[in-house]
Amino acid sequence: MREYFMKTERTGFSRWTEGDLELARLLWGDPETTRYICASGVFTEEDIVARLEKEIENGKCYGVQYWPIFELSTGKLIGCCGLRPYDLDDNIYEIGFHLRGAFQGKGYAAEAASAVISLAKTTLRVKSLFAGHNPKNIVSAKVLAKLGFSYTGDEFYAPTGLYHPSYLLATQ
Ligand SMILES: CC(C)(COP(=O)(O)OP(=O)(O)OC[C@H]1O[C@@H](n2cnc3c(N)ncnc32)[C@H](O)[C@@H]1OP(=O)(O)O)[C@@H](O)C(=O)NCCC(=O)NCCS
Repeated sequence: MREYFMKTERTGFSRWTEGDLELARLLWGDPETTRYICASGVFTEEDIVARLEKEIENGKCYGVQYWPIFELSTGKLIGCCGLRPYDLDDNIYEIGFHLRGAFQGKGYAAEAASAVISLAKTTLRVKSLFAGHNPKNIVSAKVLAKLGFSYTGDEFYAPTGLYHPSYLLATQ
């Protein structure tokens, strides 16, 4: 069982480490997870390795990751939810959530993201949070609305080659 640095009612947050490639494959190797987050809709093995390395690097450099989250009742990997730098000069971080197919549709993204927003407000003292989503991903739009994000315009997102509806949430 992993140690959790933060918990919600149903989820526990851990940190990606070098030994997590199997877990990373469970998540980013699931096309239900990746279908809206890259142009092809699937991550190759190289994409998965690179993504895990990036999360570990963001942890070391900035103290944030799209942290792996686990179901407290079973210990199973739900997905990831967390932060990455967006505009460091203006103290803005991007929030994101990637859930495995089996854990979608259960309200986990909003539950986990609420805890990340609280962390950003209190401990990390981030000025605002940015978020964006694939225009086809209407469920993600619903989650962001529920979390209180305001639409700011469409922004080009290189990994999908699409203009993503984009949002901000003031956290100070
Ligand atoms: C998109 C995602 C984050 C949504 O999180 P989730 O926890 O599965 O979402 P929820 O179960 O809270 O559902 C959110 C809302 O969408 C609704 N919904 C769910 N599936 C739906 C569908 N197929 N069509 C329309 N509405 C749907 C839910 O009823 C809920 O509405 P409510 O808030 O009015 O009750 C999650 O499914 C996911 O990680 N997908 C893969 C990765 C991804 O695309 N991440 C987003 C990158 S921007």
